[in-house]
Amino acid sequence: MPKVTIDGHTIEVPDGTTILQAARKIVEQPDYTGVSIAPPAMCFYTKLKTSGGYCRTCIVKVSKGSEKDPRPMPKPVASCRTTVTDGMEVQNITSPELLEARKGVVEFLLINHPLDCPICDQAGECDLQNLGYEHGLAKTRYDFKRRTFDKIDIGPYIKLHMTRCILCYRCVKVADQITDERVHGVLNRGDVSEISTYIEKVITNDFSGNVIDVCPVGALTDRTFRFKSRVWFTKPLDAHRACTKCSGKVALWMKGNDVLRVTTRKNKWGETEEWICNECRFEKKEVKDWVVEGPRHIERHSVISANHYENLSQLKLDINKQQKQLAGKQ
Ligand code: SF4
Ligand code: FES
Repeated sequence: MPKVTIDGHTIEVPDGTTILQAARKIVEQPDYTGVSIAPPAMCFYTKLKTSGGYCRTCIVKVSKGSEKDPRPMPKPVASCRTTVTDGMEVQNITSPELLEARKGVVEFLLINHPLDCPICDQAGECDLQNLGYEHGLAKTRYDFKRRTFDKIDIGPYIKLHMTRCILCYRCVKVADQITDERVHGVLNRGDVSEISTYIEKVITNDFSGNVIDVCPVGALTDRTFRFKSRVWFTKPLDAHRACTKCSGKVALWMKGNDVLRVTTRKNKWGETEEWICNECRFEKKEVKDWVVEGPRHIERHSVISANHYENLSQLKLDINKQQKQLAGKQ
């Protein structure tokens, strides 16, 4: 099994493991305490075959190729597409020039982006927002007119804002690999590429709602949830139901006793644990439709990962105690 060192951390991994997967493994080790050395990934998705290789946000510097051939690689490589070799040494956060190069990637990804976070439904759980904040520049050098598109409804449940799309291809791969028939894809090439349904076909397939969950930006949003609430005002719960089409294991996003939206459960890398069907996602919006398991702990990168709601009853007790103490002093 090859041994790879990433930012000074060495790990042995099975043959065929990519640098990105090896970095995630290091971070997932129970005794790992440092800052995350896993590169950001906007297009790679573990559950989708052939994903990765489009966005370049996961680039890393390979300072030693392998034990056999220690020469460094001449330019940054996409860590989601490069497999490790024995003795390889990789730099991510320990290489200032790599971090500078990643800023350039982020600048390109944002070239046509409308920067409309204040009115975007994805705010608070947008990978591009997080990426821009952590790896981007505070300004743009782009002087040309940005591309714009009309918003379109692709089917009864999904809204497409093409202006926000970063062409990561994840939704195309979901349609290819999870649903029975793909009716959308990337049309045209180069700077005129766009996501579109073929000749105005609608996406109605049973598992099509999963494209919303894999979209790393606010390009594909849930029409049944749009503008109902900011995500940080909602309370995620794990819940399940007996479903004949999918596992029925979901996350419910509640406001009071209302189910505002239903999504897949995501892991710490923001990736779906199990795909869910459209019936669970769009048609079961009553608490009585579900067996609630309890608060969902959000570990991934998001404003909601503060997980305040998990300890709400304790918080209430503490406030009451504090108020009593204050009243006693007056
Ligand atoms: S719509 Fe979303 S998931 Fe699809 S290519 Fe664009 S950014 Fe990726
Ligand atoms: S995550 Fe590797 S190129 Fe997009």
